[in-house]
Amino acid sequence: MFVLAAAGSAVGLGNIWKFPYMAGDGGGGAFVLLYITCIALLGLPVMMSEVLLGRRGRSSPINTMRALAREEGRSTLWGLLGVMGMLAGFLILSFYSVIAGWTLAYVVEAASGSFAGISTQGVGELFNRLVGDPWRLMFWHTLFMVLTVSVILRGVRRGLEAAVRLLMPGLFVLIVAMVVYAVIAGDFLDGLKFLFAPDFSKITPDVALKAMGQAFFTLSLGMGAIMMYGSYLPEDASIASTSVQVALTDTLIAILAGLAIFPIVFANGLEAGQGPGLIFITLPLAFGHMPGGTLFGLLFFILLVFAAWTSAISLIEPAVAWMVERFSFTRIRASLFCGLIAWAIGVGTVLSFNHWPRIRLLDGTAFEGKSFFDLLDYLTSNIMLPLGGILICLFAAWVMGESSRRTELRITHPAVYALWRFLARYVAPLGVVLIFLHVLGMV
Ligand code: PHE
Repeated sequence: MFVLAAAGSAVGLGNIWKFPYMAGDGGGGAFVLLYITCIALLGLPVMMSEVLLGRRGRSSPINTMRALAREEGRSTLWGLLGVMGMLAGFLILSFYSVIAGWTLAYVVEAASGSFAGISTQGVGELFNRLVGDPWRLMFWHTLFMVLTVSVILRGVRRGLEAAVRLLMPGLFVLIVAMVVYAVIAGDFLDGLKFLFAPDFSKITPDVALKAMGQAFFTLSLGMGAIMMYGSYLPEDASIASTSVQVALTDTLIAILAGLAIFPIVFANGLEAGQGPGLIFITLPLAFGHMPGGTLFGLLFFILLVFAAWTSAISLIEPAVAWMVERFSFTRIRASLFCGLIAWAIGVGTVLSFNHWPRIRLLDGTAFEGKSFFDLLDYLTSNIMLPLGGILICLFAAWVMGESSRRTELRITHPAVYALWRFLARYVAPLGVVLIFLHVLGMV
């Protein structure tokens, strides 16, 4: 159950929508190299630490942190880590739902045959027509939020397992088939080179920050989602091997998505660094020209909606659980309340793609030219999640007593335990701090 829930949380738009466009923006190979390094050296130790805290605390992240801090005789201010995570969850869900809304809209486009024989120009027009219309975006954003809340209302466990069990293999098979199509019809070698031959001159502090942020985002780390799901993990299950499984699955799906997309990008002379619209422009082009593409495209976007759905649920579950514990809200009331807040913040993202493409207040700052969506994405992925990750590692590897963490992790192999401890104690926190300082120009 934990692996399914955690994989359902981790695999989502982050892998299929965000990873390709971030890789495209970040110059390809340089970004991918940093991203994989961040997954291995920061993501894995943070994930293990987060699961560890969740399993020991067994409640919402805020109360888990407070209880564990009390247990160690430390200040309950550690609960603030849960508060920051909850806030990050709201902010991420607010834009996540808008993008998932694009996916819903594309289910309808696919079903109505809009992709058949579409031209390069046609795909651009289709996408721009959608994002240019705030009312259409509002409609899909609202529908997705309603779908998310309607699952949360009933308690996450039911249904989630079955959904993920069907979804993961389905999505995997479809993506592999698209990679095969990319080999046949795309510039596969160019795509491969773009993703895996790093141009080291492209490694800048900014690209490093984005690769780190993407590693946290795609693994759902640093905000309590994995902590929440960690409480489902039975006492005798291995935290290390389940974490490795989740991280590997997630990374594999992202890389396959990249391999499906970039060959099509290059074969059609599209722009790799065009931003958040990348897959919505590239994939319909592929579907429009492959045999059985309409059905295939329909199935693909439906599965992507499901993948986004299981991630979205994990984004507000910590907040809902906390409200139920703290204020004795009914689950229904807490879910409606949280959904409404995230939905309202999402209106800012809806407008970012049409009426409000940049926030004027930011002129003259380092964030000049950023839209509301860009700002939320930057703030959550690149700052809040890594910061949450550092605190999680510090708590698990420094604050918690040696014997508590040893019994909780239950790693039988001493070298594996030592490796986790070293990564969580030094490498992950210092790595994040170093990247932060590097961006600020201080190192
Ligand atoms: N990991 C999810 C994805 O890749 C997004 C997410 C981030 C979910 C943070 C929960 C917490 O789509």
